[in-house]
Amino acid sequence: MLTGKTAIVTGGARGIGAGIARVLASQGARVAVLDLDGAEAEKTALALPTPGLAVGCDVAVEAETVKALRAVVDTFGGLDIVVNNAGVGRGASDPNVPRAAPGSLGSGALSAAQWDEYLSQNLRTTFVTTSVAAERSSTSPRSPDWSRRPGCRPTRRPKPASFRSPRRWRSSTRRMTSA
Ligand SMILES: NC(=O)c1ccc[n+]([C@@H]2O[C@H](COP(=O)([O-])OP(=O)(O)OC[C@H]3O[C@@H](n4cnc5c(N)ncnc54)[C@H](O)[C@@H]3O)[C@@H](O)[C@H]2O)c1
Repeated sequence: MLTGKTAIVTGGARGIGAGIARVLASQGARVAVLDLDGAEAEKTALALPTPGLAVGCDVAVEAETVKALRAVVDTFGGLDIVVNNAGVGRGASDPNVPRAAPGSLGSGALSAAQWDEYLSQNLRTTFVTTSVAAERSSTSPRSPDWSRRPGCRPTRRPKPASFRSPRRWRSSTRRMTSA
């Protein structure tokens, strides 16, 4: 079903990301596993049912992500699917993570500094990866290979009729307010 498609999964070396990578590859997609842990990413990529790729990188760092996606596009010839999975949190298996006391709201188990760090990491990885990938996706007008794909042209979305001219907008406003 995904034969001929290419994907990246951030944080794909283990856990949920590795599971997503396996599902995509089992559908025929070529998957690049991007992870801080390059060695584990390599093992995961090697075990995929469709041959994949491993790239060790920090997807919160723009320069590393640009380099990683360049390697992906060079190897696969394009990019169709982006899975923003990488993130940090209070993993259930981490014995160093304080647990919330039963019946409490749990705020005491997480300092404001940790909250800032988690939020920054989890949002930043998604922002950096999405913005870098959007420039390189197979259907991006700015992607180097978009023009070679048959029928793939940037589309202009027509503006809604009521916003085409101030006069039309005013008349539709009048209609709405007089009803
Ligand atoms: N497991 C849960 O119960 C749960 C619940 C809610 C949300 N999540 C989120 O789902 C995602 C996956 O969870 P998981 O349990 O599989 O986590 P995990 O800790 O098992 O795996 C996360 C992977 O992401 C990688 N990673 C983290 N930051 C990265 C970065 N900046 N660049 C590249 N790789 C990075 C890590 O090296 C690791 O291999 C995380 O974003 C997590 O916060 C998990």
